[in-house]
Amino acid sequence: MSKEVTFSVSSLTGNTRLVANGACEAAIDLGWSIRDAQPGQLPKTDVVVVCFWCRRNSLDDASLEFLSRCEGKRILALGTFAGYPTSAYAQRVRDNVAAAIAERNECLGVFLCQGKLKEQRIEARRALPPEDPHHLDDFGYERLMEGLNHPNATDVLYAKAFVRDYLPKD
Ligand SMILES: Cc1cc2nc3c(=O)[nH]c(=O)nc-3n(C[C@H](O)[C@H](O)[C@H](O)COP(=O)(O)O)c2cc1C
Repeated sequence: MSKEVTFSVSSLTGNTRLVANGACEAAIDLGWSIRDAQPGQLPKTDVVVVCFWCRRNSLDDASLEFLSRCEGKRILALGTFAGYPTSAYAQRVRDNVAAAIAERNECLGVFLCQGKLKEQRIEARRALPPEDPHHLDDFGYERLMEGLNHPNATDVLYAKAFVRDYLPKD
């Protein structure tokens, strides 16, 4: 029987697209045929991969809209965000994403890696006064500057390995 998986990819600046391309390659290597999510349509496959960028500590709006069209699916999620993947914040985002998926579907797992922001935006936040909620302290600045190196080849390798581990066997 042919194994088919639907991919939904939301990416404004290309970070998530890079990770999604790696995830897609891994799925093909595992014998899956790929279907691209179609705007406004219900996905036709039982297994779905949602590639999102993190907004408001969860999935971006386009990915949430896609999720609203999914019911009873087995869903794997891969995302990029501004935090460190090993941080408590990353766990919070993964929990939020898993909960959003699990409302009407089965969540197979959530992968996160860092994704770059525009350097101009980082410097603008750095220049804000400490009392501003968007102000960056030294640690935050260091994190976002490190983000400029991501997603890198290792992140894509980890995304591929994640798909290998968590995409179902059929
Ligand atoms: C409007 C906006 C809101 C964002 N909100 C968050 C957030 O809540 N948490 C976070 O970790 N990163 C946040 N980010 C960072 C993006 O998730 C990150 O840069 C991501 O890699 C962008 O992916 P893309 O290049 O595929 O669009 C935000 C970025 C933008 C532009």
